[in-house]
Amino acid sequence: MGDHRGPLVTPPLYLDHAATTPLAPAALEAMLPFLQRDFGNPSSVHAAGRVARAAVDDARDRLAEVLGCEPREIVFTASGSEADNLALRGALQRWGRDRGTHVVVSAIEHDAVLATAQQLSDVGGATVTVVPCDARGIVDPDAFAAAVRPDTVVASLMLVNNETGVVQDVAAAAEAVRRRNPATLVHTDAVQALGRLRLRPRDLGVDLLSLSAHKAYGPKGVGALWVRHGVFLGGQVTGGGQERGRRSGTENVAGIAGFGAAASMAEELREAEGQRQEELARRLTRAAVSALPDAVVTGDGAPRAPGFAGFAFPGCRTDLLLAVLDAAGIAASGGSACSSGAPTPSHVLLAMGLDPALATGALRCTLGRSTSADDVDRAAAAIAAAVRQVRSAAPAAVLGGG
Ligand SMILES: Cc1ncc(COP(=O)(O)O)c(C=O)c1O
Repeated sequence: MGDHRGPLVTPPLYLDHAATTPLAPAALEAMLPFLQRDFGNPSSVHAAGRVARAAVDDARDRLAEVLGCEPREIVFTASGSEADNLALRGALQRWGRDRGTHVVVSAIEHDAVLATAQQLSDVGGATVTVVPCDARGIVDPDAFAAAVRPDTVVASLMLVNNETGVVQDVAAAAEAVRRRNPATLVHTDAVQALGRLRLRPRDLGVDLLSLSAHKAYGPKGVGALWVRHGVFLGGQVTGGGQERGRRSGTENVAGIAGFGAAASMAEELREAEGQRQEELARRLTRAAVSALPDAVVTGDGAPRAPGFAGFAFPGCRTDLLLAVLDAAGIAASGGSACSSGAPTPSHVLLAMGLDPALATGALRCTLGRSTSADDVDRAAAAIAAAVRQVRSAAPAAVLGGG
């Protein structure tokens, strides 16, 4: 058997909550009955089916309470990506014939929006206008609306950017779009906003709003699209007509129950956690910049959701930096996709005008409920050491000339 204690190790530190969050115990508890005893299909009329239906209805009510909306306006999907797809594709499918084929998106959208718009353009007969952001990562609401034309079916502007945490003035953009073309549907991807911002789609003035459970301490593989009452979308998953015909497929009852519990909890904790994480993110940013004065703080000077601390380090490479941090037990992210060993700079940072060489040295830390002040102090020291190590180990050529 031997001695399992081994040498003292520091526990791993998870600073990648924008990628995903752990499952909240309350969410797990809400899910368990539907993974075990209560396995019925919500569409069945018998008692087992009714139990499952009640769980889905309860979760819908909980989400509706968080969003201040009617329960029937919520469509459960299998992910935030699917919610974004349903918004764009569903709008074009339903309204394209009558209203046109033009789509407006911002340059900093998640790929679930950008790649969908791209495919709609490549094979769906749509034309797409991409609206840029400024150096802080802000999309000007009037510039966004100015891209809207008489034939614009849907315009999509995210609420919280997943790489920088920058918050867009979606309410102003939606109002400006409405003035320009009242028939254009306004969609916002609010996947990173749940639990970080107060979420009232009617106050935002949008028609469609996407959510994902696993970004807010719920399970993976569940999302939702809020569809303003009176807005009709073409269903993208066709079949048995579940979710009022907007999303067929037997409901993920356990996942939906977990989402409902997680959403209620996220809203309950939102203000206190927001203040705490905002302060911690500031502390981390201050400490990292004082150790590495040439660090660029991404999204600096813009309104940002709590818990985001983003950097770009000159003469550094994200993939190497993440590997060194990982070895030190710190999980962070680069905000850049990595293919064939060569890091590709993030489209968000490039849209903000960062030099590509600088953007390949990006680091994103996203804090969560378990993050403490000690954690961020430890992270700041580890980041400083890791950046120095990467800079001293790699030749300038590998680092894109610094
Ligand atoms: C802003 C944003 N939109 C959409 C998604 C996709 O959500 P899901 O992972 O549930 O497909 C993500 C996840 O990274 C995101 O951050």
